[in-house]
Amino acid sequence: MANKLLEVKNLKQYFGSPSNPIKAVDGISFDVYEGETLGLVGESGSGKSTTGRSIIRLYDITDGEIIFKGKNINAVKSRKELKEFNREMQMIFQDPYASLNPRMTAGEIISEGFEIHGLYKNKKERQERIGTLLEAVGLNKEHANRYAHEFSGGQRQRIGIARALSLNPSFIIADEPISALDVSIQAQVVNLLKKLQRERNLTYLFIAHDLSMVKYISDRIAVMYHGKIVELGDADEIYNNPIHPYTKSLLSAVPHPDPLSERQRVRIPYEHEVVDGTASVHEVAPKHYVYGTDAQIAKWK
Ligand SMILES: Nc1ncnc2c1ncn2[C@@H]1O[C@H](COP(=O)(O)OP(=O)(O)O)[C@@H](O)[C@H]1O
Ligand SMILES: [Mg+2]
Repeated sequence: MANKLLEVKNLKQYFGSPSNPIKAVDGISFDVYEGETLGLVGESGSGKSTTGRSIIRLYDITDGEIIFKGKNINAVKSRKELKEFNREMQMIFQDPYASLNPRMTAGEIISEGFEIHGLYKNKKERQERIGTLLEAVGLNKEHANRYAHEFSGGQRQRIGIARALSLNPSFIIADEPISALDVSIQAQVVNLLKKLQRERNLTYLFIAHDLSMVKYISDRIAVMYHGKIVELGDADEIYNNPIHPYTKSLLSAVPHPDPLSERQRVRIPYEHEVVDGTASVHEVAPKHYVYGTDAQIAKWK
């Protein structure tokens, strides 16, 4: 079994006023193992981005623990260690139009963090590093001097990926990295992420709002609904033996590649069920976890 790179324990991230909080993330726990891809899936507003942003410390968390490489991130105060966390954890964003400054060149975007982290000795070395990164994501050296607005959506997301790789991180949170791209380009970007993961031994938290592409990239999948993880398990287990009705509903929305079975596909709507205080996480099969009350779990199984 691989090592735990990241441990999230009872994470809560509330917004708004204490008397009327928006519980964006409401007590979730999961581990991410070194070298794996954990898919985090759920409809818009379920708390996926907030989870990612809390992990990279864009927020002061409301409660819980985030442990990276055995260290509790929120307890770390030394500048040197914070800098190291910033280097090790990177994020790729959904919208490559909004997340890249159009008035900066690809080279400038990619090399922004080089200086603070002392990653080059002179101008030549800096150019070489930029060139190597561009080539790693399927672009070429000559692209370094072009402005972000001159690239297509897919190319921009490649620049976003190069930027995320620029400091040699070990962990990348990809927040719906293909949702804004043409369907024809989505598979290319997923394949690129897979290739980079093999070459660089990267660990991914891959966020998506549906289960269609997640299947191809994830080793395990966590399903999020209303700030909670309602189901978590190996990708195969989630696909073949879903227990939570929300997971079943998400699965029923995935188109089948075979036209005959696609014609027979029936979408299962999810009827929101109120969960009372007795709901908890149940291990329904080895390493397959479902959130609910005892009675719900018995019914769903
Ligand atoms: N900075 C914020 N302030 C207030 N509410 C927020 C903030 N960020 C997210 N939310 C709310 O938290 C919930 C979860 O949002 P988000 O994490 O963006 O969901 P997802 O990424 O799954 O679509 C939503 O109801 C959203 O409106
Ligand atoms: Mg989001």
